[in-house]
Amino acid sequence: MGRRTRRFRKILIYVFIGAVAYSFLPMFHFWFMKGAPLDDNNQANVLKLVDNEGVYFSFIVFGDNHAGLIFNDAAAMKEIWHMNREDRFRKVPIDFVLGVGDVTLDGSRSQFEAWKKVQRLIKYPVITAIGNHDDRKLFDEYCGNKEFAFANRNSYFIVLDNEDGALSDTQFAWLEEHLKAGEKYDHIFIAMHKPPYDPYQQEWYNEDNSPWSYRFRKLCGEYKVDMVFAGHKHMYDHQVFDGVDYITTGGGGMLIEIPEADGGFLHYIRVMVNNDYVTYEVRRVSPPLWEYVVYYFWKEVVYWVRNFYGSGYIVGRNTEMQPMRVKDLNDREYWSW
Ligand SMILES: [Fe+2]
Repeated sequence: MGRRTRRFRKILIYVFIGAVAYSFLPMFHFWFMKGAPLDDNNQANVLKLVDNEGVYFSFIVFGDNHAGLIFNDAAAMKEIWHMNREDRFRKVPIDFVLGVGDVTLDGSRSQFEAWKKVQRLIKYPVITAIGNHDDRKLFDEYCGNKEFAFANRNSYFIVLDNEDGALSDTQFAWLEEHLKAGEKYDHIFIAMHKPPYDPYQQEWYNEDNSPWSYRFRKLCGEYKVDMVFAGHKHMYDHQVFDGVDYITTGGGGMLIEIPEADGGFLHYIRVMVNNDYVTYEVRRVSPPLWEYVVYYFWKEVVYWVRNFYGSGYIVGRNTEMQPMRVKDLNDREYWSW
């Protein structure tokens, strides 16, 4: 090897080490910053929406940031940087960010303090469901209400507390009452922590055939709910039941263990409402370089080795073949592929 090649290689290595170190810098800001005030909670942020007018808006959905672990907070910060730029062309207002729970790693006070920092970094009002990792008492103190509904413009939003999994009969009665209230609006959206189906079938979380999840999906179909958002599984997934879109979005920061090819990647969802139309995009965000080097690269390597034909196990999903039920301006329904 010539001297020039050696020198060039050395420069490349230094640039790479520099880039890895640079990608870590935002953490110093995070450690020393102040969190959002305690009264910046669900009930306060719902009130911020009451004056919104018009039938053209966006909102962002994310879940499972699990604040309190350096890997998670670094990834969440990078996602937030992208979220905060979503309205840069000022074409569509981003009204709020909807969280689907697991705001903390396992619910301690210091992790809720970390969550408040994450929340402060998000420039939009944040409204979040509770997850099974979030302590119930501390959630009251740091995030506020756990089960509530609110209207924003032409849409009705219902936030459910299912950190335990199943919904009780009382919760079903409450839900149906709000689904009825939602019928006055163009759209109904629901946010909850645990998905009412299995986004990844060969997993510990297995609720698809439990009575509550079937009952829930039937009810949503009956009331023509537009979309149901959940987290819990740290992945992205989309399925359709009775014409209702179910999105699992658990890629908000937590270290992801599921292979990338099966939906295990960091992301958030941007939903856009235009009169009677609803569209959405999955915004994939790469981890900070240092985190890629120490974790995400190796996660995929392990799956490659275990699965010599590549990472990931799923080669086909029914959702890819499932048509979506769409409505045209005359309220006629048709199937779209
Ligand atoms: Fe989680």
